[in-house]
Amino acid sequence: MPGISFDRAVEYYDETRGYPPGIDEQLRDSIIAHLGLGRDARLLEPGIGTGRIALPFIRAGYTYVGVDLSRGMMRKLRHKLTDRAQPVCLVCGDVMHLPFADASFDAAVLVHVLHLVDDWRQVLRETRRALREGGCMVLASDERGGEGDALPRARVHAAWSAILDELRVPPEQRRDGAPHGLDDRFPPFLEELGAEVRRTTLVAYRHVARTAREVAHQYQARLYSSCWALPDAVHTEAARRLQRWIDEECADPDTAHEAPARIDAYVARWP
Ligand SMILES: C[S@@+](CC[C@H](N)C(=O)[O-])C[C@H]1O[C@@H](n2cnc3c(N)ncnc32)[C@H](O)[C@@H]1O
Repeated sequence: MPGISFDRAVEYYDETRGYPPGIDEQLRDSIIAHLGLGRDARLLEPGIGTGRIALPFIRAGYTYVGVDLSRGMMRKLRHKLTDRAQPVCLVCGDVMHLPFADASFDAAVLVHVLHLVDDWRQVLRETRRALREGGCMVLASDERGGEGDALPRARVHAAWSAILDELRVPPEQRRDGAPHGLDDRFPPFLEELGAEVRRTTLVAYRHVARTAREVAHQYQARLYSSCWALPDAVHTEAARRLQRWIDEECADPDTAHEAPARIDAYVARWP
């Protein structure tokens, strides 16, 4: 498998990763402004999923093409469009080998896909190949839960990592080498491909972040793809220890924080 198919996440992906109302449209408008896209722009999204990013573009009439390993995720996207008769081109395929001719698109949008593929450099090379001269790419990432180690998401993540250390889980089962968010390795690699790259915040908003218990539940229920490669017995034991941590060590497991959130991005532009 050239990446991680989200077939198993189809039923809960939108509920667990969705944005508050209106943020998806703000994100679309910010991408359009940052990339300077005209109404006739042809856009590509490798790893389109259920259309969390794509739908506002499609509804606004942009030509939008998506590729994904998971037919289930794309079927979900299509269901959201049935009453609207909006055209969308969805291709079941591997983003490391895009089934498009060179220079087919004006812009590409990549969100939360590069940590899932076997070779993220190959995805960026392929995406670059599919862009016309003067094309551009946005690599965006959700920065939720606010800054700092004291917030529930960061605390639970630290506790989970410590448990996996105790259980001596090897790096390949934890996907340790996978890029994380807006990884520092992306800009130099895009520059090697000839792009000018800058980092920006596309959208900033406030939301009620999950409590520590709710975040822990996401690990325990294996909702995060980082849990999928763990052997069942290891996951069961890690989930049990995380519950003990919630019950005995975690301060304020049920306090919900209003927290700042951002969607940050690298914007890469080819001359
Ligand atoms: C975390 S989801 C992100 C979906 C969407 N970009 C978003 O931000 O909501 C990642 C998607 O990439 C797909 N994927 C993972 N590896 C892939 C590959 N090698 N080729 C095509 N799609 C892949 C998964 O099936 C999943 O639907």
